Amino acid sequence: MTLSAATAADAPALAAIHAAAFPPGAAWAAATFVTLLGLEGVVGLRAPGGFILARRVLDEAEILTLAVHPEHRQQGLGQALVETAALVVATAGAKVMFLEVAEDNAPAMALYAKAGFSRAGLRRDYYAPGRHAWLLRRSLDG
Ligand SMILES: CC(C)(COP(=O)(O)OP(=O)(O)OC[C@H]1O[C@@H](n2cnc3c(N)ncnc32)[C@H](O)[C@@H]1OP(=O)(O)O)[C@@H](O)C(=O)NCCC(=O)NCCS
Repeated sequence: MTLSAATAADAPALAAIHAAAFPPGAAWAAATFVTLLGLEGVVGLRAPGGFILARRVLDEAEILTLAVHPEHRQQGLGQALVETAALVVATAGAKVMFLEVAEDNAPAMALYAKAGFSRAGLRRDYYAPGRHAWLLRRSLDG
């Protein structure tokens, strides 16, 4: 499985994967990816069927988004993207990684549990009234 660094030139492809991966209304525009990839500390990794964006600030990192196209799921790509992003930000100095995930997103919750994340708190009404998110945390030490 070959992953490469995502650049602004990949923004339309990332937006297409994101739109296929998330429910209607939750898709991010290509311009959003251009902006995010231009921010300091943002790491983007992509494969033909999926991608991840993470941001490191000093010794903390956050997964901004993770998306695998439905046709490419359950082949290990999501896990490879998370592990590689964790390695990249840890190498750059991050000691801990966070993310928010919808509490009813069972596939993502299972992936993150397998990747060593644990629940650090519940963000109520994070996505919309009544749609809560778990804040997940993983130590990158060692
Ligand atoms: C969540 C998502 C990224 C998983 O990508 P993926 O490439 O299919 O995941 P992987 O094949 O690497 O699976 C790794 C582990 O995740 C879990 N998992 C993945 N899909 C699952 C599913 N449909 N049901 C239950 N567990 C699942 C399993 O534990 C799996 O390990 P296993 O294969 O040994 O059982 C993908 O389903 C997706 O893009 N979903 C929509 C967008 C999204 O929810 N992003 C995350 C937002 S925080």
